[in-house]
Amino acid sequence: MAKKTVRDLKLKGKKVLVRVDFNVPIQNGNITDDNRIVQAIPTLKYILDQGGRAIVFSHLGRVKTEEDKASKSLKVVSERLEELLGKEVKFVPVTRGSELEVAISNLKDGEILMFENTRFEDLDGNKESKNNPELGKYWASLGDVFVNDAFGTAHRAHASNVGIASNIKDSVAGFLLEKEIKFIGGAVDNPKRPFVAILGGAKVSDKISVIENLLEKADKVIIGGGMAYTFLNAQGYDIGTSLFEADKVELAKNLLEKGKGKIILPVDFAFTDKFEDKAPTHVGPITDIKEGEMSLDIGPKTLELFAKEIKNAKTVVWNGPMGVFEMDNYRKGTIGVCEALANLKDAITIVGGGDSAAAAIQFGYEDKITHISTGGGASLEYLEGKVLPGVAALSDK
Ligand code: 3PG
Repeated sequence: MAKKTVRDLKLKGKKVLVRVDFNVPIQNGNITDDNRIVQAIPTLKYILDQGGRAIVFSHLGRVKTEEDKASKSLKVVSERLEELLGKEVKFVPVTRGSELEVAISNLKDGEILMFENTRFEDLDGNKESKNNPELGKYWASLGDVFVNDAFGTAHRAHASNVGIASNIKDSVAGFLLEKEIKFIGGAVDNPKRPFVAILGGAKVSDKISVIENLLEKADKVIIGGGMAYTFLNAQGYDIGTSLFEADKVELAKNLLEKGKGKIILPVDFAFTDKFEDKAPTHVGPITDIKEGEMSLDIGPKTLELFAKEIKNAKTVVWNGPMGVFEMDNYRKGTIGVCEALANLKDAITIVGGGDSAAAAIQFGYEDKITHISTGGGASLEYLEGKVLPGVAALSDK
């Protein structure tokens, strides 16, 4: 990678600012998925083992009112981090000021603290999210070097990533950021072929640029999930009450024309007349759909077809579930794709963040896939071929 990494720095005795993406789901005060914290551990351990003094920070959700602060505090996250590191993490419940500055000056080599949600600064004129120059400069003044390991936030140009990086000479990537760039960037820019892209999820509109970019780069583009129905409608099929974006039909027609021989659509489906977790009433080709019915998953013939395409691939990138995997009865398609990826012996398999990453982990495929991205929006933008500002702002090698 053309950017400096944490390996390029001497860390002993240094105050190391570490931007992580610990924007994790929290329900009733409990973290329901700690993957982003787990994935940042190698960088943090390395910094501490090298004798650095780690000052860790992240955003958590969106903070719009004073009341949001209670549910958006990083305290619970710092406690989880402490468990995972097996080391005390001092939590500082502010984002600036003397309490934070004193805590930093008290840090010894190999010690770590975490300060409060960077987006608390958004309550005062969106300072964090608008990359307020004073804020980036202030946070930069708290450390000697800056390590950015927040791949999930790399598509944002905020004070806590771009702002700090533009005010500190040594701004480098952590191991997680490096790994994300290596796998996702490597797949898109220099894939081992055949390169198969699998795209799912609810909406065509969320993935237009990804489909366009991957149609240029991949050998095959498999389309499943909710967005497949707009493509089927564009081919003239009745799709009943399945997910549909009327204003994207023309676009879908153009993409199908452009991707002739490359785009692969599902051939059978799981039909139901209610959006409920009940066994599908029947499974079959789209022409079997009855009035008032919708499809909530792909069917077994589609899985066979997709698996056949995936079988020969040397690189696979997957983004977006194949059906409503949150429901027991409509997760077979998503599990089937996990299985097809897991069966590949000699290929690089990448799950590009968001729901599909959550599904791969939930269904137990974590160790059978080469790389599961921690980025949702960030991995999508990367797959679109966009420059990520959080990465661009780091020091070149
Ligand atoms: C994410 O979860 O995609 C990142 O943490 C970015 O969060 P944001 O969409 O609130 O900026």
